[in-house]
This record gives sequence, C-alpha cells and structure tokens, in this order.
Amino acid sequence: MDSFMIKGPCRLKGSVTISGAKNAMLPLMAATIFTGGKCRLENVPDLRDTRTMIKLLKVLGIPAELNEGTLDVDASDPSGFEAPYDLVRTMRASIYALGPLVARFGKARVSLPGGCAWGPRPINLHLQGLKSLGAEIRIDHGYIDASADGLKGAEIILAIPSVGATVNLMLAAVLAEGETVIENAACEPEIKNLADALIGAGAKIDGAGSSRIIIEGVSKIDPFTHRVIPDRIEAGTYAAAAVLTGGEVTINDCNPDHMHAVIDKLRSCGAEIETAERSIHVKGPDKIFPVDIETGFYPAFPTDMQAQMMAVMSVADGASSFVEHVYTDRFTHVPELKRLGAKINLDGSVAVVNGVERLQGAPVMATDIRASSALILAALVAEGDTKILRIYHIDRGYEKIEAKFGKLGAEITRISE
Ligand code: UD1
Repeated sequence: MDSFMIKGPCRLKGSVTISGAKNAMLPLMAATIFTGGKCRLENVPDLRDTRTMIKLLKVLGIPAELNEGTLDVDASDPSGFEAPYDLVRTMRASIYALGPLVARFGKARVSLPGGCAWGPRPINLHLQGLKSLGAEIRIDHGYIDASADGLKGAEIILAIPSVGATVNLMLAAVLAEGETVIENAACEPEIKNLADALIGAGAKIDGAGSSRIIIEGVSKIDPFTHRVIPDRIEAGTYAAAAVLTGGEVTINDCNPDHMHAVIDKLRSCGAEIETAERSIHVKGPDKIFPVDIETGFYPAFPTDMQAQMMAVMSVADGASSFVEHVYTDRFTHVPELKRLGAKINLDGSVAVVNGVERLQGAPVMATDIRASSALILAALVAEGDTKILRIYHIDRGYEKIEAKFGKLGAEITRISE
C-alpha cells in the first residue's frame, strides 16, 4: 500500500488546475447504462473511483475507456444486471447502477453497500423512492433485488435531501411512464450537471438544482456527450491549503459560483480572495482568524470540506467550533490530527478546536478521502516529516495530488510499498 512522506513546513505559491468532479462524473457514467449507444464524457478525472466505475460498467457488458480526460463508453449491448459486492464495497456510488438498470431492463441486482469509515450510510431513501415508482425490492443474501414491469411516475418526498437518492431516482424516473415530482431534492451542482446531460439526450426534467424536480418520463434516452463540471471540493481543498500555509495560489479551471460557502469562510479567516469566472486567487493571511463551521446541504458549507477546514483551524489564533449536520459521526480525522499536535475536543457531532502555534510531523493513517486530504494539509505546516499511510483513500478522489502540491512548492513524495 502506498504512503506519502511530507516534509514541512512550507508556504504554497503558484497555480493549480482543477480536475473534473468525481461526484458529477459517477452519476454521468451510470446514466450511460440506459442509452443503448456510444457516449462520451469530457473532463473526466483519472481517479481510483473512475477505474472502479469503469470496472462496474464492464461487468454490465458496457466497455469504457479513459484517455487523457475523455471517457468513451459503449452501451450498445449491455449484458449484465448485477453490481457485485467486490465493487460496491470499494465505492458506494456503485448503487447508482440500480436506478438505470431497473428503469431500462426491469431488473437489477446490486450488493448492499454496508457502512463506511465514518458510520452507517443508509440507502433507505433510494429504495423507498424506487418502490414509489413501482419497483419491487427484495433484500436477498446481502443483495438488493429490484424488478419492475415498467416504472410509473410518482410524487416522492425525500425525508432528507440526499444526493445519492436524488441521482438514483432521477435516473429511474426519466424512463418511467408519466410525471415524477421529487420534493426536497438535493440541490448540489452535480445534480444539475447530470440533469443537463440527460436533457441533452432527450429527457424532460425541470427544476434540477432546486429542491423540486419535475420529470416527465420519455421512452428512450439517446447516447450523449457531456462535460463534467469542475470539482468544487478539490478546488476548496487547494484554497484551504493556501490559507493554511499563508501562501498565494491561483486555482484555475474551477467554478467559484459553486463555492460561496467555502470562499466566505476562508475570507473570514483573513484570506484575500479574488474570483473570476473560472478561477480563484487566494492570498493566505499571516495570522488565521478562527471561524465556526456548521456543515449542511448545498448551498451550505459542505461536509466534504469539514476535515480540511479543521486542519486550517488547528493553527488558528484562537478557538473554533465545528458542528457536523450531514454525517454526525464524520470525525475519523480528529485522532490523526491530534497525533500531529492539534488540540481538538470532540463531543458527539460537535468539535472544538483550540489553535496551536505549530503542528509536529508524525506517522498518521488516512481513513477516507477528505479526512486524508486534511492530513496532507496539516502535514504541510507541521514541523518535520509526516508519513501518511493508506493513501489509496486519497487516490479515490484527488487526481495527481502529489504532482499538484509539488508544483506549488510542497515536498511530498509517494512511497510505494
Ligand atoms: C454524496 C457525496 C459525498 C458527500 C455527501 C453529502 C457522492 C458520490 N458522494 O454522498 O461525497 O459527502 O453526498 O454531501 O456524490 N441518507 C439517508 N438515507 C438515504 C440516503 C442518505 O438517511 O437513503 C442520509 C445520510 O445518512 C446523510 C444524508 O442523508 O446523513 C446525506 O447523504 P447523501 O446526500 O445521500 O450522501 P451520498 O449521496 O452518499
């Protein structure tokens, strides 16, 4: 298993180019399943999760090939209906195969995802929604067996604006007969990106990006070509790193419009931030002011940036608090940041961070994608060497991270063991 060796402290300087969004690319790849033809996705990041999704498509009889950011998918002749445990356990978003398979072929068998590093992650809303659309769902030996003799539009009120459930239900409802209304839908930009691709392919969808999505079912979705939006979490991670190290970084090929909550908080830390249409310029402060963070559903502060922001607050001039509303147990980075000298008190879903003058390098363990990037950030300002073990988590969600940080002046080496 690979690890990173990072020598700190450093001050980041230069420019970085942001990749396509993992969380936009995965639903788009799933959407190719029901097109019956050749699709092309552009601005696709080369990530471990991309490779996992390619494997899943292949299992379904859909060859896919990634070549320098362009993914060609041939869904002309799908032959499988099962997403096996081996793939689903490494990437929960494999569950996105459920909606399109059952909508197009009337059957799907997808392994139940199980928990994840930061606690339970239920899929009850995906399943309830599919049942409302007329699918029959059985749980059998750890698998979800879904079948339908033609889905029918319905009104679905999501108890929580789940990104995953909104994606899965949109992917099912576009081919259902009649009208589907998804109330309390997730408003994340990745949902709008998916809807735009589907609309271009013949779907009738209104309101994507708002909490009420109306879908009028159609009989087929054409093959499509679509560009993946920039990764707002990757961009936010580099912006946070610039602030933390007191550096000056230009972040290119991003969409600042998707990042208001993060940019506002970083400005409150004392950073000078200028935005243009597709870039952000960040100048970190000499002294970081503490800020309080409450995560929430888009457009609120994203849970996917909570860990990185905690790394920033670890060396702030005073105390800050974090309240995690989306995944109340998502704090596996806390004990690892503490190993680097951070002072953090965790009580349920609330963490209080007392900023320290300096962190110190130490061996630490990556536990999930964003927790791992928080450890990289902390290591950038820690005195001495930090070894981060199990970086396959980072490789799931950050493209060429050591090259990108290296270009900004960080000393970061991948050790293959
Ligand atoms: C997606 C993102 C992930 C991000 C998360 C929250 C992808 C591939 N992953 O995950 O990076 O951290 O959104 O922004 O896009 N819930 C239920 N029942 C369900 C589904 C969800 O109770 O059936 C709850 C979850 O426990 C959580 C909340 O809803 O508390 C939000 O989860 P959800 O938006 O579904 O997250 P994911 O789609 O899994």
